[in-house]
Order: sequence, then C-alpha cells, then structure tokens
Amino acid sequence: MKKILLTSLLHKDVMDILYENAEVYIANDPNPHNYMDKMKEADGAILLLGKVDKEIIENCPKLKVLSNVSVGYDLVDVDTATKHGIPVCISIGANARAVAEHTLGLILAVDRQIVTWHNEAVNGIFEYKTGTYNNFELLNKKIGIIGLGNIGKNVAKICKGIGMEILGYDPYISREEVEKNDWVYYENYEDILKVADVVSVHVPLVPETTDMITMKHIKTMKKSAILINCARGGIVNENDLADALNEGIIAGAGVDVYENEPPNADAKILHAKNIVCSPHSASITKEAVMNMMQMCVKGCLTVLNGEKWPYVANPEVYEGEVWKK
Ligand code: DGY
Repeated sequence: MKKILLTSLLHKDVMDILYENAEVYIANDPNPHNYMDKMKEADGAILLLGKVDKEIIENCPKLKVLSNVSVGYDLVDVDTATKHGIPVCISIGANARAVAEHTLGLILAVDRQIVTWHNEAVNGIFEYKTGTYNNFELLNKKIGIIGLGNIGKNVAKICKGIGMEILGYDPYISREEVEKNDWVYYENYEDILKVADVVSVHVPLVPETTDMITMKHIKTMKKSAILINCARGGIVNENDLADALNEGIIAGAGVDVYENEPPNADAKILHAKNIVCSPHSASITKEAVMNMMQMCVKGCLTVLNGEKWPYVANPEVYEGEVWKK
C-alpha cells in the first residue's frame, strides 16, 4: 500500500477514503522538517498550510505527489517539484464562491464600520453623529478587480448583482471575455487604482505580483477608497498599507492574508486605522472546505495511481522525463 503523509487531519469523510486506499500518517504539524524520517517514507503528501521547500523535496526521493488543500501554492517550491516530476495538486475553483462572499463581507464591514459599530452598540454608545461618517452605498460605485480567475470572476458577478460597476484587470483574460460580461476592461491595474471606489486583489503570489501595490500605488487611489486583500500577503505591501491607512491616504482596508502567518501580535497592519482583519479564513465555509479536501485527496490518489491529475500548479510536469517514462 502507498504511504500518504498529512500535515493535518482532514474531515472524516475524506479520511475514510484515504484509509481505504493508503497507509496514512498524520503529522499535526505544518513543517515537514520536524518529521523528515516520515516524509522520506511518504509516496505522497497532503498539505494543509504545509510548507515544502527544496531541501525537503530533494531529500525525499519516494515522493510522487504534493497535494494542497488550497488554491494557493506559494508554500511549495513548485520549480523543484517540477524538476523531480512531482505534480503539485491545487484545489482550483473549490473555494471561489467562499472567498468571493468573504470579500463582499469585508467590503461591507469596512465601508459600514460593522466592527466599530458593534463595539459601540455593546458598550451602549448610541450617538447618531449625523454628517460625520463617510460610509457610502455600493450601488453604482466602481469596484476594481485585479485578477479575474475563478475568485475574481465570482467577486465580479456578486458585485454586479448588487449594482456595482466592474472594472477588471487580468493579463491572461481577453478584452472580449471581460466585455461580454458587461465589465470594463483595463489593460493595466494602475489605471484602475486611480478611479475605483473599492479595489480587490485576486492574483496568486508569484514574483511578478509581489509588491504589486505599494505606497506609490496607494497614493494614486481615491482618498475615499477601500482596498481588500483576500489573495495573499505580500501582493499588497503590508507596512505601506498600514501607513496609508494611518495617514488617511485611503479610507479603509479589509485584509485576510499577511506577509507572515500568523502575523506577530504587534504587526503594524493589525493595528492600522479603519482596517477589518480576518485570520486567513476567507475560504472557510462548510462547502468550500469539503470541496478542497475532496479535490486534494482525489488528486493525490490519482497521481499515486500513475495517472495525470489536471488540477495542478505545474502542468508542465507531465512533459518531463518522469512522466514520459
Ligand atoms: C487558498 O485556497 O489558497 C486559500 O487561501 C486557503 O489557503
């Protein structure tokens, strides 16, 4: 029987499938450096926030598949995996609706000051400071969506549904595809930043998207604008965003992801003005978690069975020597 290592226990329904098909080891620790002996024995690994670097891949010659319970794959050294013929399975599409709904939740929470007002309400503060609030209605406002993959598209559909104008940027999506949805196509994201009332990023964290939004970019945004990051920490420069909020350069931000996770309790971003934070929980719904786990387990078992699984971060792996053999 093949050996599969899991960084964490998954839902019982998917665990049952794994127990039927493999010998399973659950590490309860996202860092495989802490249990290299087990990792070296594994034919496949299922990662829930598990970090797999070059050293691990190079020292685990039995490893045939790395399967992520996530769409993001920034915790895995994908290039090294590809060199070793290892498909990196990801849960493409599985949590798109969940993350999109959370994005809308953060937009509303920031704009309508839900957290601040909750705190006021429970502390008996019922002062109607007429005229002193800047909250706006979303109807007819412009949302700039940077990255129109599965998640960005879901955000666009939801926001269109509540009467927002959609401005879209994605270098991999054609103008025709954007315009057929009655969204406005932008060739570069910098132009979106200048006009949008809300900006939401939905791109993966790769070298080209690192620091895509820094102070220089934030300074071009409307003073009344809100910035949302439910994608990955590091796409929006965290310290720049905190400074911009504290200095009132933009009106607010909603953040689900951080440059280091978990961030230090005193990280500047957590204490910035007019920010609503969540703990990388945008994809956490009953439906999405189950979809991700099922996809991840299916991908892992399919590859261990010697078959190609299409939902991978490195489709070029199948062109390499290992798969040609
Ligand atoms: C994803 O799928 O990448 C989510 O951010 C959960 O990690």
